Amino acid sequence: MPTANHYETLKAHLLAAPRTWLVTGVAGFIGSNLLETLLSLNQRVVGLDNFATGHRHNLQAALDDASQTPAWLGKPRTELAAQFHFIEGDIRNLDACRQAMTWKSGETTCPVDYVLHQAALGSVPRSIEDPITTNQANIDGFLNMLVAARDAQVSRFVYAASSSTYGDHPGLPKVEDRIGKPLSPYAVTKYVNELYADVFARTYGFKTIGLRYFNIFGKRQDPEGAYAAVIPKWISAMINNQPVYINGDGETSRDFCYIANTIQVNLLAATTDNPEAVNQVYNVAVGDRTTLNQLCDSLSGNLGARFPHLKGFKPSYRDFRAGDVRHSLADIGKAASLLGYAPSHRIDAGLQESMAWYVGYLTTPQAQ
Ligand SMILES: NC(=O)c1ccc[n+]([C@@H]2O[C@H](COP(=O)([O-])OP(=O)(O)OC[C@H]3O[C@@H](n4cnc5c(N)ncnc54)[C@H](O)[C@@H]3O)[C@@H](O)[C@H]2O)c1
Repeated sequence: MPTANHYETLKAHLLAAPRTWLVTGVAGFIGSNLLETLLSLNQRVVGLDNFATGHRHNLQAALDDASQTPAWLGKPRTELAAQFHFIEGDIRNLDACRQAMTWKSGETTCPVDYVLHQAALGSVPRSIEDPITTNQANIDGFLNMLVAARDAQVSRFVYAASSSTYGDHPGLPKVEDRIGKPLSPYAVTKYVNELYADVFARTYGFKTIGLRYFNIFGKRQDPEGAYAAVIPKWISAMINNQPVYINGDGETSRDFCYIANTIQVNLLAATTDNPEAVNQVYNVAVGDRTTLNQLCDSLSGNLGARFPHLKGFKPSYRDFRAGDVRHSLADIGKAASLLGYAPSHRIDAGLQESMAWYVGYLTTPQAQ
């Protein structure tokens, strides 16, 4: 049974004995935050990304932020950069996946110990508009990654699953073994990932863990584009004095989960030596329910002091969006008991910590 300070102990162990990690989707929101934390723990990291939705500036920012952590203060930046081996490549290409199973720095090479597979095309509406491209990245690409990781004999394959797998199941809170029918092509792809991971465990003895992310938020989550997630999209609209649209009556609820919690579960899942914890899926959330109306009030309240135009701010309501589930709230007991997960941030603390980043990002020319 993991202890309460399991994560702190794990980080100390990793610092003392660095391992080799592959983060796919490393130029995206969650991937670049994983990269930053792993580098701050002096790990060797291979990153794979095709920049479909990720950005080079996220890689730069992850290295910049890691360089400010105790492990790297006062050390040459070249040493930090040498820990990270980036491959621009597509998971739909099996050769690129195989190539990513080895870390390289100059003449030195190391096989990957742990895979944190984040690369996918997110967004329910994107998948409804273009199910084929979503399927190619999220299912064909996933299968390539599984095959490459199995053949490279990695110790653990941790992958980004999704709360969308609960589909039309009405039960709340969501418990891992009670799922409904998927409500979108995206949800189908994420469920197929779980099925493939399970079959790879049964047929090849391969060790996987699926993390059903709920609504993750934090720095470097892209506020731009048609498929932006609600928190960055609304912060951007509020700062730029544009309309904020709420789909439906605003009583739709979500279990918003700060990125620091997400990183914690990934590292715990990759390294757990509890045999019962492996070949499982876990909810990654906080266990709190926030309605869209509450979120909107909280964001406008938070930004109000800095942006006077938000005085008297009111959102605009429009139709419910196809494919969205009405309520989403997680039971996080399984991750707590089997992995030792203990969320460090609830939504308010996460918003507090990430708001300065959003304001900085959205008010500098780079984001325009
Ligand atoms: N953010 C959330 O709230 C959330 C919720 C549930 C699940 N997820 C899952 O978490 C993972 C990461 O999501 P995110 O929010 O960081 O999204 P993101 O779009 O910021 O990151 C995804 C990254 O994957 C890369 N990518 C996409 N297709 C690729 C391909 N074919 N080959 C190589 N790289 C490719 C993108 O360029 C991007 O850098 C995804 O699998 C997503 O489905 C996220």
